[in-house]
Amino acid sequence: MNVLVTGGAGYIGSHTCVELLESGYGVVVIDNLCNSNAESLNRVQKLTGKTLKFYEGDVRDEALLRKIFAENEIGCVIHFAGLKAVGESVAIPWKYYDNNLNSTLVLTKVMEEVGMKNIIFSSSATVYTADNEMPLRETSRTGGCTNPYGWTKYMTEQILSGMAFADKEWGIVLLRYFNPIGAHESGDIGEDPRGIPNNLMPYITQVAVGRREFLSVYGNDYDTHDGTGVRDYIHVVDLAKGHVAAVKYVDEHKGCEVFNLGTGTGYSVLDMVKAFNEANGLELPYKIVDRRPGDIATCYADPAKSAEVLGWKAEKNLMDMCRDSWNWQRKNPAGYGK
Ligand code: NAD
Ligand code: UFG
Repeated sequence: MNVLVTGGAGYIGSHTCVELLESGYGVVVIDNLCNSNAESLNRVQKLTGKTLKFYEGDVRDEALLRKIFAENEIGCVIHFAGLKAVGESVAIPWKYYDNNLNSTLVLTKVMEEVGMKNIIFSSSATVYTADNEMPLRETSRTGGCTNPYGWTKYMTEQILSGMAFADKEWGIVLLRYFNPIGAHESGDIGEDPRGIPNNLMPYITQVAVGRREFLSVYGNDYDTHDGTGVRDYIHVVDLAKGHVAAVKYVDEHKGCEVFNLGTGTGYSVLDMVKAFNEANGLELPYKIVDRRPGDIATCYADPAKSAEVLGWKAEKNLMDMCRDSWNWQRKNPAGYGK
């Protein structure tokens, strides 16, 4: 079966392409490279020894989508394409609503036309309200997002679940990711953020490689074991394997189902610094600074439903995540740029 991977040149998409190819799927990618580099796809092909088909373009381009569906027999779509910088979404909300909502609307319109109605969507733990008890279950409260990015994920979930309710031919899987970090163990593909990283691990690796002076730890007065924010970090290869499990699931089940993709364990920022140092024999410079607006103290998943229904479970540990993140950055100090 061929899987159409939107946003396949990006961080999670490229790792998912590897796992799909290694599981015997054909892969067709559409990506406009607004936050990625086509080199990632060259590396995916080198790594796996298999080829994929790449269309450079925008998912909102209806004509291009029709062409892709006409030229390829697609059995499932994984929809990664989207903008994801929380701060930018507050500054330029229209750009986020346009890109993230219209990409899904155009994509599903064309899928409906061609009668291919299996889709897996990249949602986020950000759709859960901040007042939930931990761990977060798929039934925990959602909504009350604090930024346009989060709202686009929430709204897309509403759009897709409404479509599945109205038309029983749709098979829809909403995957709520927790905090993906790490890289393929080869160190050939990994996360390559543009500009100053927003997220913890790419910031840590850029400090370690000398691109930034020190890590700013955003607050040590949270109600957590050491005062710093706690998150559920998940290895990107585990996350990618979760998508392969979802492709199998959606092939056999109609309707709309939501799954958490997390490990179920939370680590603090200082736990992460310590683990990174231990895994790699480094001493990362850091400073405690003020809290970052919008951050919550603690966020981690209950991954039981994914284990029971998808038969998927994260297998890699924190040491693997820290080692592989550093291995990628060390081998590619300027990301795909060099
Ligand atoms: P990424 O930016 O590395 O990948 C997204 C890819 O989509 C990029 O290659 C980008 O060029 C492409 N893209 C964006 N808009 C497009 C459009 N209109 N048409 C074609 N291509 C387009 O991000 P990622 O970390 O790989 O995230 C993938 C998905 O998972 C995103 O939807 C993101 O919101 C979601 N997600 C990510 C995280 C995370 O922490 N990385 C957490 C939760 C959810
Ligand atoms: N942090 C720092 N210093 C940094 C970066 C982050 O101390 O330079 C801290 C944050 O305060 C937080 C933790 O590290 O406590 C993790 O922060 P990230 O930015 O890596 O991740 P978030 O949990 O804040 O955000 C992630 C995704 C969002 C998504 C959100 C909820 O990046 O897209 O999870 O799912 F919306």
